[in-house]
Amino acid sequence: MGRNKRIGVMTGGGDCPGLNAAIRAVAKKAIRENYEVVGIKNGWKGFIENDYEILDGIRASGIIDRGGTILGTSRLSPFYVEKGTEKVFTAFEQLGLEGLVVLGGEGTLSATNRLFKMGLPAVGIPKTIDNDVKETDYTIGFQTAVQIATDALDRLRSVAESFHRVMLLEVMGRHTGWIATYAGMANGADAILIPEIPLDDNRLEALCQMLQKRSKEGKKFSVLVVAEGTTMHGELVSERGFTVSLGERKARLGGVGQILCEIIEKKTGLETRVSSLDYIQRGGIPVAYDRSLATVFGVKAVELVQRKKFGEMTALKGNRFTSVTLDKATDGIKSVNLKVYAIAEVFFT
Ligand code: F6P
Repeated sequence: MGRNKRIGVMTGGGDCPGLNAAIRAVAKKAIRENYEVVGIKNGWKGFIENDYEILDGIRASGIIDRGGTILGTSRLSPFYVEKGTEKVFTAFEQLGLEGLVVLGGEGTLSATNRLFKMGLPAVGIPKTIDNDVKETDYTIGFQTAVQIATDALDRLRSVAESFHRVMLLEVMGRHTGWIATYAGMANGADAILIPEIPLDDNRLEALCQMLQKRSKEGKKFSVLVVAEGTTMHGELVSERGFTVSLGERKARLGGVGQILCEIIEKKTGLETRVSSLDYIQRGGIPVAYDRSLATVFGVKAVELVQRKKFGEMTALKGNRFTSVTLDKATDGIKSVNLKVYAIAEVFFT
């Protein structure tokens, strides 16, 4: 049967595990509904440079367990390119798309919302290891990052135990501590440091006292986790300078672990080492949860297009799959639930 309707799918911003599972779900559901599926390459760049591919059943097969995105990604924003938004609309028209499914984090989804308000029939799927998108309990990629960070903390625990050291792991998360909180809780970490609870002299003092107390009590090692966006005396640590993301100059976070490690060692006299997980926590095979979340979100996104519910994003709320407006979802970022953090804190002794 000929396919006279077309749907587009695109991934923008940081890659994460589970993107391919979502692309597969969008493509297979859309093909089943008699759409031809156009994969836009490298985020918004694909529209601007006319770079796309047709995703048929074969191209969309065998990728559910693959990390990254077969479509490629970028942090380019059409709002910061000359005639960028015009180019998006022209390409959209020329491709004859009925709707566009955008897989993005807070930045890409905000750009999608702006374009929607200008008339682009688009829907969103939340994805980022940071889990900081509002109006959804989880984003695609988060659970895999938590698993990778938990595995790393488990390994650091055995090093800490053997050497009687304090071992510290720095994880990503931008301005939120979701990965740190959930991986730290799963590992039984002795302290979890997150942006939602900034570090000042009092907190640093209390942390060092707790580590010394543990040592005196005969607990010969400690495992700590710190999120990259945790501020020290109100300052973000950005040792790697800046990056241009969606046209904005943003701090490339990283380095708070090293600074903290030196402070702890100096103040407590306990041998302390730091590791950073960096991009390792963003790559590779998605865990089962991310694959199924991506699959549901992918199917639901196609249904949103079919129902012409543009300007909406797929979401999970308290075990219920639903959709929310991009307006609400991109109105700020979702911080760690401090009630959950307080549970992890019970074990900081
Ligand atoms: O948003 C995902 C994320 O991995 C953050 O946790 C991290 O701060 C940032 O992206 C790194 O961005 P880039 O890949 O541009 O260095």
